[in-house]
Amino acid sequence: MRDIERAAHEVLRRNDRGDFTVPSPRQYPHLWLWDAGFAALGWAAVGDFDRAYREIRATLRGQWRNGMVPHVVFYGWPSAYFPGADVWRSQEVPEAPPDLPTSGITQPPVLAWVTEILFRRDPDRRRAAAFARAVFPALLAYHRWLHTARNPDGLQLSLIVHPWESGMDNSPLWDLPLSRVPTDGLPPYSRGDIRWVPPEQRPRPADYDRFVALILHLRSHRYGESGARTSPFRVYDVLFNALRHRSEEALRALARALGEPSEEIEDWLGRGQAAFQRWLWDPERAFFLDWDGVAGGRIPVIAAGGFVALCAGVATPEQAQAMVARYLRNPEAFWPGRGTRYLVPTVSQAEPGWEPRRYWRGPIWINLNALIAHGLRRYGFLAEAEAIRDHTMALVEQAGFWEYYDPRTGEGLGIADFTWSAALTLAWDLLAEA
Ligand code: GLC
Repeated sequence: MRDIERAAHEVLRRNDRGDFTVPSPRQYPHLWLWDAGFAALGWAAVGDFDRAYREIRATLRGQWRNGMVPHVVFYGWPSAYFPGADVWRSQEVPEAPPDLPTSGITQPPVLAWVTEILFRRDPDRRRAAAFARAVFPALLAYHRWLHTARNPDGLQLSLIVHPWESGMDNSPLWDLPLSRVPTDGLPPYSRGDIRWVPPEQRPRPADYDRFVALILHLRSHRYGESGARTSPFRVYDVLFNALRHRSEEALRALARALGEPSEEIEDWLGRGQAAFQRWLWDPERAFFLDWDGVAGGRIPVIAAGGFVALCAGVATPEQAQAMVARYLRNPEAFWPGRGTRYLVPTVSQAEPGWEPRRYWRGPIWINLNALIAHGLRRYGFLAEAEAIRDHTMALVEQAGFWEYYDPRTGEGLGIADFTWSAALTLAWDLLAEA
């Protein structure tokens, strides 16, 4: 093991709570959905498949009866985390697990993809098959929910009803959709996130008010379909849907390996592919853009999440080429040289909303880097994928395993000893080169 891998393994061990890994002991002391997926890959990368499987099972233990997998499972509650189980109040909702508090929204659907990677890589074939067979029905139920409860406009894409469902909580992608969220009469609350991280690296108070107001709206509809339909925030996000699609390719592979029927999954894949072209590809800007479900149009913000479409293979080769030439390799947008030194900033530098030190508005995130590298490899952009890998390794070697990094200096930002930054340093090949 290289020194950096030993250090990464040490972070995983410190953040390990037995059946799940906290993203950060102080800032995020519970289980988060996509973090758990990346953590599972980290455990597999150090050879501990049993531990990786426990991580997935712990995540699925939070699954609701309608199929939804929540973005937070409040193992270890109570804590100082806000908004906690007392705000979400999942236990007042009949679909939620009665004995385990969770949030009421989801997060990017990576679990099926991660499960398929574990299945493919586990040297113990009997264990791999037993695990895949055990979780397959839950994964299928989750995707069925994504295609029904979250397809209210018939776009054949999955709607997100809160910025936190995108995983990119504070992106400038949400500025316009969030501006419609009313916050009058919001009860007072106290944020936990700015206790450990300087406020200028975290969301602004007005945005946080909107995050909380949206939770209260969704909660008043018991996180059901009426709340999604009437939510002032309704977005069809590229990254979220790309990971849905990539996970459904993985589900199809699992179905075949396990001898399960795959027609329903095939049908989803066909619809998803067509929907990406019809709704999300913007021919004028030559980029995949989010669709604003309230205004009925694309959100004209160039964010790194757009490149994640390449993970799913939903772009034509010409579209991929245009995205790379016009944005990725462009030093006015994402490529280093003018203003920045490292790949991949979360937002194009040309965006008015670009803030290189604030949460999701410019800094580099290691999980997006790994996903983008995977997509680039899929389309044959090997040199670009390699550059992202080199920059990622340089960042963690110089600064450590931070939550995010300043793309101009490489300085670590947010919280230190962040689980997925460590896990993906270990599992880069498992994910990016899957
Ligand atoms: C932040 C991130 C989100 C992540 C969570 C836990 O909310 O925006 O993507 O899952 O922290 O690490």
